[in-house]
Amino acid sequence: MSNKTILRALAGEVLPTPPIWMMRQAGRYLPEYRATRAQAGDFLALCYNSDLAAEVTLQPIRRYGFDAAILFADILLLPQAMGADLWFETGEGPRLSTITTMAGVKGLKPKEDIHDTLAPIYETVRILARELPRETTLIGFAGAPWTVATYMIAGRGSKDQGAAHALKAADRATFQALIDAITAATIEYLSMQVLAGAEVVKLFDSWAGSLKGQDFIDFALTPAKQIIHALKARHPDLPVIAFPREAGQGYVGFAKATGADCVALDNSVSPEWAAEHVQISGCVQGNLAPEHMVTGGAALVRETRRVVDAFKGGAHIFNLGHGITPDADPHNVSRMIEAVRG
Ligand code: CP3
Repeated sequence: MSNKTILRALAGEVLPTPPIWMMRQAGRYLPEYRATRAQAGDFLALCYNSDLAAEVTLQPIRRYGFDAAILFADILLLPQAMGADLWFETGEGPRLSTITTMAGVKGLKPKEDIHDTLAPIYETVRILARELPRETTLIGFAGAPWTVATYMIAGRGSKDQGAAHALKAADRATFQALIDAITAATIEYLSMQVLAGAEVVKLFDSWAGSLKGQDFIDFALTPAKQIIHALKARHPDLPVIAFPREAGQGYVGFAKATGADCVALDNSVSPEWAAEHVQISGCVQGNLAPEHMVTGGAALVRETRRVVDAFKGGAHIFNLGHGITPDADPHNVSRMIEAVRG
């Protein structure tokens, strides 16, 4: 049996204390992250600088002793490797060249040609595999095809993913071709992360919640299933975490339908409901509201204990329901960890 608690939880083991990590654990709330980002120049330069990306991945492990480290990178590096232009507007977020036609999809690089751009990411993984403490699990990741497509179609983030929904309605063939191209590239990208030393991979479908009914099945569930099945064919023991954020009822049965070993839960579902309806079929991860990392106090401790207690009957990895925000207080992270570990 592995001495890594994250791997044990992913194998379905019920542990006396859940292992912990935090989405965006290397991020702007940490002064040491801000200093390293300044040294790199900007966010994208940091992602492609293997030594500094490994350094910021390690910072929250040193400070807090999390049970997992997540590779420092971004879901939008894959579209960039496929040929999209990508830049970050300070204070606003990502910008990409847009793809809305079949010619645009056909003009993307084939999946074999993404690795030149992504080579520094694989190198970051190799450094981390060497340098992480023996008990810390290394998680690789990619965006899920729908979420990545929403950025490639609109050229930026949006609250309602309107441009992607519009293309899906107006030109289904182009939309499907884009989803398929991202799916194929994601399999190659994640497979290379595994070969470089990632022990677990996570699929971030941040905008899964705006897919309803058959669309949820076609564009959240089906691509996740294709990616997970292809990865497990190549790497049979690889655990996979799926995060169809704000899926609501869609969380029920998602792990079984896709082959995921764990479903990550956002904080719009209650932990008591999720224990009854989702955790009964396997490991779950989540789901403290990230706001508590800003507000702290007695509510932070109470809600942390509530999440731990709700999930204590099954396999559970403690995490937030979404990424920690830049205005979070680093001391609140320590308080959360104390409340989990007791
Ligand atoms: O979790 C981690 O710490 C691993 C690294 C990671 C980042 N982004 C670093 C990052 C991961 C897993 C992501 C995933 C990601 N990126 C998602 C899916 C998860 C989610 O949060 O919903 C999405 C949608 C993106 C795209 C993206 N990257 C956006 C919309 C933004 C701007 C918003 C923001 O928070 O500034 C980013 C930038 C980004 N990615 C930052 C970090 C640490 C902040 C950049 C900075 O340092 O200025």
